[in-house]
Amino acid sequence: MRRMFNIFDNNNRTDDFVTIQNAREDIIGELDAIIQYNNHLVQTNDQRAKQTILDIMREEKLHVGQLFGLLFSLDPESKEQFEKGLKEFEGLS
Ligand SMILES: [Fe+2]
Repeated sequence: MRRMFNIFDNNNRTDDFVTIQNAREDIIGELDAIIQYNNHLVQTNDQRAKQTILDIMREEKLHVGQLFGLLFSLDPESKEQFEKGLKEFEGLS
């Protein structure tokens, strides 16, 4: 997993700060996993492999949602901005 934030640099931070940063890092990890599974999905013709990878990839997408739920509960501003971004996107269509 890419490490954009080093928890050991923040020993004096609050638990919430660390939990929020970790949730963001975990979201990156789940998105990295989705990218990898999707690449592997298109690189095989084996139907069992395709079904297995697809099933796992869907689970990773669910995990992204769970982690956003955690992040949004700890950082309401992230939720507000996320929802604002969705509305702006929907306004494009
Ligand atoms: Fe996951």
